[in-house]
Amino acid sequence: MCGIVGAVAKRNVVPILVEGLLRLEYRGYDSAGLVVVNDKSLERVRSTGRVAELAEKSLKTNGTIGIAHTRWATHGVPSERNAHPHTSNELIAVVHNGIIENYEELRSKLTGEGYIFTSDTDTEVIAHLIHSYYIKNKDLLKSTQSALAELVGAYAIGVIAADNPDQLIGARKGSPLLLGVGEGEYFIASDMSALLQVTQKVVYLEEGDVVALALVGYKIYDAKGGAIERPVNISELNNESVELGEYQHYMQKEIHEQPQALADTLESVCNSQSLVPGIFGAEAANSFAQINRILILACGTSSHAGMVAKYWLEEIAGVPCAVEIASEYRYRVSVADPETLIVTISQSGETADTLAALNHAKSIGHKHTLAICNVPESAIIRQSKLRFLTRAGPEIGVASTKAFTTQLAALFLLTLVLAKQNGRLSAKQEQAHLHDLRHLPSAVLAVLKAEPEIAELAKHFADKHHALFLGRGLHYPIALEGALKLKEISYIHAEAYPAGELKHGPLALVDSDMPVVAVAPNDILLEKLKSNLQEVKARGGQLYVFADSETKIHSSEGVHVMQMPEHAGFLSPILHTIPLQLLAYYVALQKGTDVDKPRNLAKSVTVE
Ligand code: M6R
Repeated sequence: MCGIVGAVAKRNVVPILVEGLLRLEYRGYDSAGLVVVNDKSLERVRSTGRVAELAEKSLKTNGTIGIAHTRWATHGVPSERNAHPHTSNELIAVVHNGIIENYEELRSKLTGEGYIFTSDTDTEVIAHLIHSYYIKNKDLLKSTQSALAELVGAYAIGVIAADNPDQLIGARKGSPLLLGVGEGEYFIASDMSALLQVTQKVVYLEEGDVVALALVGYKIYDAKGGAIERPVNISELNNESVELGEYQHYMQKEIHEQPQALADTLESVCNSQSLVPGIFGAEAANSFAQINRILILACGTSSHAGMVAKYWLEEIAGVPCAVEIASEYRYRVSVADPETLIVTISQSGETADTLAALNHAKSIGHKHTLAICNVPESAIIRQSKLRFLTRAGPEIGVASTKAFTTQLAALFLLTLVLAKQNGRLSAKQEQAHLHDLRHLPSAVLAVLKAEPEIAELAKHFADKHHALFLGRGLHYPIALEGALKLKEISYIHAEAYPAGELKHGPLALVDSDMPVVAVAPNDILLEKLKSNLQEVKARGGQLYVFADSETKIHSSEGVHVMQMPEHAGFLSPILHTIPLQLLAYYVALQKGTDVDKPRNLAKSVTVE
């Protein structure tokens, strides 16, 4: 969701800005733009198309300092006039991620002062506000700090001034922004993938930080305005990890990266002989000893991981667990229980609703917090007491795939650690689970071999408008995840139900035009599920069943069965996710949709 790149260098920065935006495309956007200072004036180029179009339009643009942006519309429709950068009086230019909540108030104040607005965005108030200070003090840093003091809301910004070709200001509060350190050149960006082209050295800015970049170096100021040092880190990301390689889409690449992502996530555990709370942080043993229930907060796919974990935590660890959608929890009046562990799950670690839910939980008195996240240094990681980093690597496709299965792996580890603490895991059981976890990457690899078969099945969905997904128990959240994947990237309306609910309403929808996808592991609910499938078959529904080999469900008229290679016991939800991801991917290919950047969606949802 929205992306920022900025650079100050001795060379023309336009190619760096454009390449940076290309690498941020995955975040989701509907317009793009850049501005550079050239001969003491601002040269701005904007476009409502793809970044490639912006690149075409800016071929002749040249400057050694500049800022660029991909916009995902919040205030004002996607259009060139609403695209960033926004300028004030040809002097100040601003790019902005986030939402300024008091923009209407500021807009009328600035209008009263004679400022003319040319867009419908909240961002334009920032440009005019900085301008109103800058014309008085000619100090870009101070003007930006004064303007920021008037803003209510979330922001990451980049600012330049036409008459100041050697200074770029960046600032963050509530939206991610980092600083890239090159050889005599400096950069800002919303995430590191934009900067790998120029540097591996990164400084993670803290909440409220303002940074002033110049050719001679940079200076960081904290929320109170005092100069502060922040550590320079070497990013673990490399160019290869964000490149497509042999694959057609990032989603396909990321589906295939799951065996490695799981192996990396489980590495420390699988190499040891026993499970210890320390994998969740130094204070985990102490925290875990004080809690007796869990509340999981997350959005979208991450919340589905939480729903699977609820089954594991209650059955294996004997810990009561509730799962709540973060955007609901943050506004609900709830009762804080000091013995509850708050677990937030997030691929990006920057999802506004999940972050706000975490802070809400803390504000009402929850002191035990654990983040399961894929991005080190993300806000959710930094604001939680305990943490587990999934090691899925960068996930570029908007549809979450490897992040989900690695979240499940992390949650299974949490379950085992708590089960052990609660005396519910014998040494023999612990070894058996460790064995299954070591085997997991190769079990996933075996499922991926079914790709051609699933690509064939997908053809049956291409002309459909609706689909129903069924699962039971542990696999009901997997049905939800399968439906979310399908609707997200193929735009087919898909719903998921616990199969037992079928006859309480959704059965009315079933006819020969309604594909019904069933997740059918060989577990204790199998016979119940088989009866539910009969109910569908009897109404002429077309069944697509992902069945473990021992289930004895076979293809017949109207029943298409894909045999899963093995039943993985408690880890079965991870294996059963894979074919549903592949199904969604191949249906989207059939329909010719933009798989990695589905319409209206953003990768990292940093606004409410
Ligand atoms: O980064 P997060 O895991 O916090 O993101 C949460 C959701 O926005 C995300 O899972 C979304 O539902 C995905 N696009 C689903 O594929």
